[in-house]
Amino acid sequence: MITKNGKTIHLTGRGMSYIMVENDDGDLLHFHFGRRLPDCDYADMADEWTEGLGPISNMASLDVYPQEYPAYGYTDLRRPAYGVTRESGGFVSRLRVREYKIREGTAAVDGMPCLFGGGKKAQTLEAVLCDDDIGLNVSLFYTVFDEYDIVARCAVITNRSEEDMTLNSAFSSSLDLPIGNYEMLHLSGTWGRERDIVRTPLKSGIKAEASNARGGSGHQINPFAAIAEAGAEEESGEVYGFSLIYSGNHCTAAEVDQFGFLRVMQGINPFGFQKKLSPGEAFCTPQSVLCYSDEGFGKMSREYHDVYRNNLMRGKWANEPRPVLINNWEGTYYDFTEDKLLKIAKSARGLGIDLFVLDDGWFGKRNSDNRSLGDWTVNYEKLPSGIDGLAEKINGLGMKFGLWIEPEMVNPDSELFRSHPDWIVRTADREPAQIRNQYILDLSRGEVCEYVINAVSAVLKGANIEYIKWDMNRQMTDMPYLGYNHEYTLGFYRVVSAVTEKFPNVLFEGCSAGGGRFDPGVLAYMPQIWASDNSDAVSRLKIQYGTSMCYPVSAISTHVTASPNHQCGRNTSLKTRGDTAYAGTFGYELDVTNLTDEERAEVKEQIAAYRRLQPLVREGDLYRLQSPFEGNYCSWEIVSRDRKSAFLFACKILALAQSKDARLRMRGLDENKTYVERTSKKRFSGALLMNRGIKIPYAMSDFATVTMEFEAEE
Ligand code: GLA
Repeated sequence: MITKNGKTIHLTGRGMSYIMVENDDGDLLHFHFGRRLPDCDYADMADEWTEGLGPISNMASLDVYPQEYPAYGYTDLRRPAYGVTRESGGFVSRLRVREYKIREGTAAVDGMPCLFGGGKKAQTLEAVLCDDDIGLNVSLFYTVFDEYDIVARCAVITNRSEEDMTLNSAFSSSLDLPIGNYEMLHLSGTWGRERDIVRTPLKSGIKAEASNARGGSGHQINPFAAIAEAGAEEESGEVYGFSLIYSGNHCTAAEVDQFGFLRVMQGINPFGFQKKLSPGEAFCTPQSVLCYSDEGFGKMSREYHDVYRNNLMRGKWANEPRPVLINNWEGTYYDFTEDKLLKIAKSARGLGIDLFVLDDGWFGKRNSDNRSLGDWTVNYEKLPSGIDGLAEKINGLGMKFGLWIEPEMVNPDSELFRSHPDWIVRTADREPAQIRNQYILDLSRGEVCEYVINAVSAVLKGANIEYIKWDMNRQMTDMPYLGYNHEYTLGFYRVVSAVTEKFPNVLFEGCSAGGGRFDPGVLAYMPQIWASDNSDAVSRLKIQYGTSMCYPVSAISTHVTASPNHQCGRNTSLKTRGDTAYAGTFGYELDVTNLTDEERAEVKEQIAAYRRLQPLVREGDLYRLQSPFEGNYCSWEIVSRDRKSAFLFACKILALAQSKDARLRMRGLDENKTYVERTSKKRFSGALLMNRGIKIPYAMSDFATVTMEFEAEE
């Protein structure tokens, strides 16, 4: 709901208020983001910030006011939400309110994915701000939903002057929080170790920035951060989430100012960014989704999970049961023949697997990673029946067929590069760098986007392909100009939206050398993303736990692979691998023809278990119970919305002699219901499970996992 009361604009969600007030000078000030407040005019409280400041208060300086979209240079000298330079060199700006427009429904973000209404009641405020002295308009868009505690923000900046302007930065959201003791949580990592949770205290004078300028959203820093009151935990404390719906270079910046106020901004990374605005031209930022939780990180995560499942992930697969798949990559790498693939598929079918995915190596002359990206035609030497023939044979086994593709890339050794050497991302004056022997196609150009759309469409039309793994295996170097990365990102969205719209029945999975582009921008088009190339179950505890901070488990692609693990050499039991993978879109990635009869029986049970658990994975509420970042245990729980079913996963990471484990207290259940545990058939009250907790029967070994399924008695 959005209401206007005098000079106060009040945005409400399920339990939160986001309030801004306009002062007498027309500055748009931030008043409150937090628990719900009554609806009234708060404008006369807007000078509380100048109290007790001594001589500085005489200056009525914007430096002391919390603002909605701060400018630099006219008394506020903190980091601004945007920066413009005029032709004359001037870069000072000040925005004042021109008007407010409130409308039903969500905002549209030009050329980029954003939240959609999805049948839920949403309203959008457009606050139009102007700097009449330099001819600049900034429209701030805020979308709220009645049933969520989120505010989705973006800004459109328009040059209304007669001269060119240069935009040097343009954040999507800026939030000035009151004096407090805050911490920032962000997701940091590298290839094979994505989305580690890192918490940093925010102190006066120290700027904290979680940013990435590597091309895609990146393995290193995810475009998500949370600001929490110090000491906030999973289920307690005030937490503010910031999640950017964007797949390019991004930044979430926090700064505690001289008085202890905290400014947090999220958007396109200003480093490497610039945009020339001709007279009349506008620039639209991506959407930043802010979330308020008064019950710790857990509630914030569940809110993001709901919003992204219902109002971001598009298409029929977003909320459909996903097929259990087998991918041949770790089973064969490039070394396969049609015969070998069919043997694996047949064996997988016998286990109950639904979908066979052929990974890298099926096209051009691709037998290693040094050639053929760009030549998306089948290698008949390896696959004499072609992709269509292979798909038919797989379908004949009663399975769906899926294919890997990396359409944004080209190897120098390819027909595509030989015919279009000028289609790659590069500067004019330097040999571009190759990473994994490949270049990036220049998606800032319309003709290159058209080529990619047509190439992928031709592959999809050529055979009965029901799933695509869309990979992107390098970072972006040699960008030809400041702001290039954004133009590329727009091209990427243009391509994926065209392809996914053309093939609405195909299930698309995102991938970027594992989890290098695990972001809401990709999720809008592809409802599942390969979380990491590291498929080791123990490493995955942290990867999946960290990823779940912002992303729903139904989006996290998880596979059972071979032991010893190929990325870190660890031996784990088939049980540990399966148990860990249940909290995701489940599949296998190993040569199943080598499994023993005993292992085959276990895999069949795992698949049956996953089919039972899938509704919970897709729609349930996630509770993180024990963090692998904080100790020797990792556990999580998924509860159905009606609180009748629950799935519990617990892992004791290393065995310890003579150790007792604390009872595990579950969450989110109904205290008054009686739950029956599926395997032991034991009955427990919800009150006992949550308030006293239960003993977890860990086996005496490293990486001991336990799963339990609870059903409420009628
Ligand atoms: C990337 C992906 C892997 C696999 C290989 C193929 O690394 O993350 O899953 O598809 O490419 O080259």
